[in-house]
This record gives sequence, C-alpha cells and structure tokens, in this order.
Amino acid sequence: SGDPLVLGIETSCDETGVALVRGDELLVDAVASSMDEHARYGGIIPEVASRAHLEAMVPTIQRAVGQADVDLSEVDAIAVTAGPGLVGPLTIGAAAAKSLAVALGKPLYGVNHVVGHAAVDQLVDGPFPDRVMALVVSGGHSSLLLVDDIATSVTELGSTLDDAAGEAFDKVGRLLGLPYPGGPHIDRLAREGDPTAIRFPRGLTARKDQEKHAYDFSFSGLKTAVARWVETRQDAGEAFSLEDVAASFAESVADVLTAKTIAACERHGVDTLVIGGGFSANSQLRDMARARCAEAGIDVRIPPIRFCTDNGAMIAALGSAVVRAGVAPSSLDIGVDSSM
Ligand code: KG4
Ligand code: ZN
Repeated sequence: SGDPLVLGIETSCDETGVALVRGDELLVDAVASSMDEHARYGGIIPEVASRAHLEAMVPTIQRAVGQADVDLSEVDAIAVTAGPGLVGPLTIGAAAAKSLAVALGKPLYGVNHVVGHAAVDQLVDGPFPDRVMALVVSGGHSSLLLVDDIATSVTELGSTLDDAAGEAFDKVGRLLGLPYPGGPHIDRLAREGDPTAIRFPRGLTARKDQEKHAYDFSFSGLKTAVARWVETRQDAGEAFSLEDVAASFAESVADVLTAKTIAACERHGVDTLVIGGGFSANSQLRDMARARCAEAGIDVRIPPIRFCTDNGAMIAALGSAVVRAGVAPSSLDIGVDSSM
C-alpha cells in the first residue's frame, strides 16, 4: 500500500522491542527481555535494564528488519517511546532511534508509551471508531484514557494515585511469599478461591472521593488492608485460605477498575473499550469487564497478551497513526520524560 513504513522502538522498562508497521499492518515484532535478570532481585533494576537494552538493541533491530525482509533504507519514519518509563532505558532507545533517523535521513517521532498500549489494538482489531475508552493497566501504569483520535487527541481522565494494578499484585504477592512477579501467581490462586470470602476496601469509591477522583485509582490502601488481614491471622496462629485472600483481593481490584471504566464510558457516551497493558492478562478483570460491559452495551477489545505486555508493535502502531495524521516530527534533540 502507499502507507509509510514505520519502525518502532520501545525501551521504557525491561523489554527491548522493535517492530515494523505499514498502515495498520504489523510486518514484524521483535522483542528481547531482561526480566530473567531482574526476577532474582524481586524487581526491575534500572541499571541492569539499561545495560541489557544496550546489548539487545542492535541485534533486535537486525532481527526485525531481517524477518520482515525489508532494507532499513525502505523505512519512512522512526517512532520511539519518549516516556513515561525508566530514564536510563528510555535514553538507550532514544539514542538508537535518533541515530537511525540521522543515518537514514528520516523523521523521528517521540511517542507516549501509555497511549501506545491502546494504539496497538488497531493492528489486531482494526481502526478505532470515533471515540473509544482505553484502560491501560500494567506493573507501571493504571490509566483511563478517552481517545478521540489516537494520534492527536487523547485525554487522561484518571490514573493511579499510588501503586499501579500490577504493582499492587506484585507487592501482595511478596507479602504472601510468592515469587516475583506475583501477579500471575495470585491470579492462579484466585481462580481456586472465593472472591466474596473477605470484603477488602474499594479504593477511591467513597462518596467523598467521587467528586475529585471519579476516574482515579488507589491500590496502596488495599495492599495494606490485605497485609493487616493476613498478619492478624498469622499472629493468632489461625489458619486461612490463601486462595480466598487472593480471590478477594483480586475481586476488589477488578471491581474498582471495571466500575470506574464503565462509569467513564457512560459519562462520555463511549461504546467501545480497549484494555491494554500486561495486567489485562488478569482473569478476574477480563471476566468482570466482559460481563459488565455486555450488560452496559459496551464492546470490549483486548489484544492477545503478547501485544499487551511491552513491545515494539505498540510504538510502531502509534507512530504509524501519528505519521498518517500529518503531525510534525520531533526535533532530533528531544529528551525523554520519565513521567510523561
Ligand atoms: O505490561 P507488563 O508486562 O510490564 C509493565 O509495564 O509493568 O505488566 C506486568 C505486570 C506485572 O506487575 C505482573 O505481575 C502483572 O502485570 N500481571 C498480572 C497478570 N499477568 C501479569 N497481574 C495479575 N494477574 C495476571 N494474570
Ligand atoms: Zn507498558
């Protein structure tokens, strides 16, 4: 087709992602992860991630270009994650993207990682309708985005005031003695438990919070409530079901995410919801969002998990939309923005 060929580079956390997209068609998506190196520390170590990006960057670019069977000279534009994320890792990706842009004489586009998590859905489920809501949930972010145009008009209606959803799962996982990252382990336990066994708090849903924080999230109070509940039982030498704790905790997170997202859809007259980010793998969130959205007449789009975790396709997809919208390229001296 006549659409530009866009190369996307993602390095905001522990995944080195490089992808090629033409229009809304994904040609290749190559990814290298340093997660194995972080797992033994129980969290991402920025220095370790930066070094891993530096080592993986050129091979991953070569792998992407080789698999797509294109020549680098055919690339029309370079898109790169400018933020949010870890400064060191972002800097490695930006340096690679700038070098390519200069060497190839092609325009550079610095794009937003969280918006990329929504944009990638277009590669899978086709172009967005006029207005969509996007819930982006991962270990690093929990954001609710109103998308009028993915390239030019995205409004953040709310985000987490403290822990991201995945981060809360990982912290609760640690206190329950589960391996890092705890999210998938809690999910597995939760599927065997009773989600109504314990009534944990629903963050920022009280009437007094609704005005100011209608679409914001807070999960740190919930995490503390789970810790207290478990400690109380342990101190008393009382047995309890780990499965019930996991299920009740996961229920609280899914309930708040889903309720606030659907309220936002109704408030803004939106009937398509995109869910992205690595936490979208969570069973309770998926099931609850599907069931409640069906009732509310909202169409739910959740890309396959490999497009929900960090990857280059999301950045190439957003870059492709931005280039086609005629947005001016970024300056070659753009910096990175950890809190974009
Ligand atoms: O998007 P992602 O791969 O990396 C970040 O950008 O954070 O998301 C990973 C996060 C981790 O916190 C992980 O524990 C969580 O998502 N996660 C899950 C599940 N799968 C991944 N949390 C709950 N249930 C899951 N099934
Ligand atoms: Zn992400």
